[in-house]
Amino acid sequence: MDKLKVIEVIVEKVKEDDRMKKDLIDILDLSNKEIAEMIELAEDIIDNPEKYYEKCRHKKMAALFYEPSTRTRLSFEAAMHELGGDVIGFASASSSSVSKGESVSDTAKTLECFSDIIVMRHPKEGAPYVASKSVGIPVINAGDGGHNHPTQTLTDLLTIKREKGKLTGLTIACCGDLKFGRTVHSLITAMSRYEGTKFVLISPEELRVPEHIRTEILDKNNIEYKEVTSLDDAMPELDVLYMTRVQRERFFNEEDYIRLKDSYILTPEKLVNAKKDLSILHPLPRVNEISVKVDDDDRACYFRQVKCGKFIRMALILKLLNL
Ligand code: NCD
Repeated sequence: MDKLKVIEVIVEKVKEDDRMKKDLIDILDLSNKEIAEMIELAEDIIDNPEKYYEKCRHKKMAALFYEPSTRTRLSFEAAMHELGGDVIGFASASSSSVSKGESVSDTAKTLECFSDIIVMRHPKEGAPYVASKSVGIPVINAGDGGHNHPTQTLTDLLTIKREKGKLTGLTIACCGDLKFGRTVHSLITAMSRYEGTKFVLISPEELRVPEHIRTEILDKNNIEYKEVTSLDDAMPELDVLYMTRVQRERFFNEEDYIRLKDSYILTPEKLVNAKKDLSILHPLPRVNEISVKVDDDDRACYFRQVKCGKFIRMALILKLLNL
């Protein structure tokens, strides 16, 4: 083949790749470069919102939520509306044909007929992946069981970047239910790719980070981490404290939940030994693990974090729709 022909073939291949749909099922579906571009786009949206008002005109997002949600669903809806697009979908399985026994795949194929992009939350691990394999439009995982929550992680990364000015060289504590907390699993996976990240994993013995995350993510990437049970001991060295609630709905029995639910409660007194520039994050909803008295502390970032959620989701929608 002559040189020109080779170049033509390469150009065709690149065009083909461009046409390939991209899903977000796992945070590892995005390279660090793509995440950096998305953060940059989100920051441009924050600074120049009017540039983006019409970008999704005549586009529809299907929001299929088989599990309760406040922030994730409504921030996706707000994001699509702010881009000039429309939203269809359901907020609980009981109000759709799922209650008649329809499969995830058939529901996704149906929504593909009416929309350009699907956002799905499901109690079963892997359900959004099944949907993504069934349709030709992008599918976003908005939380699958106790597994992953990549768009919360994008939100967390944008928040950390804005609060700390960087994503490298940070000591991050994840505290609470590290076993069932899907936001923690995706956050550890993402932050393990940034240089100089150190983790302090704070949980009761029964709610430790799952073994596959320790071996496949932390050990494989040679990440410095320790597992401890005391929040107080860890506090002085932290740059970021990521609090989580104990995930009641994923427990097998209520007694265990009641015994473990108040393992950690962050109060102003506990922050006395913390760094002056600590950033306190929480994916929310909060139950009891952060006293409302902490909300007035400037180091409490969780409501600023909610705001970031809308902007990064706007950037994500634009990227996946190639707009
Ligand atoms: C989280 C979730 O759904 O995993 N919430 C959220 O999306 N912001 C955290 C939680 O429910 O504890």
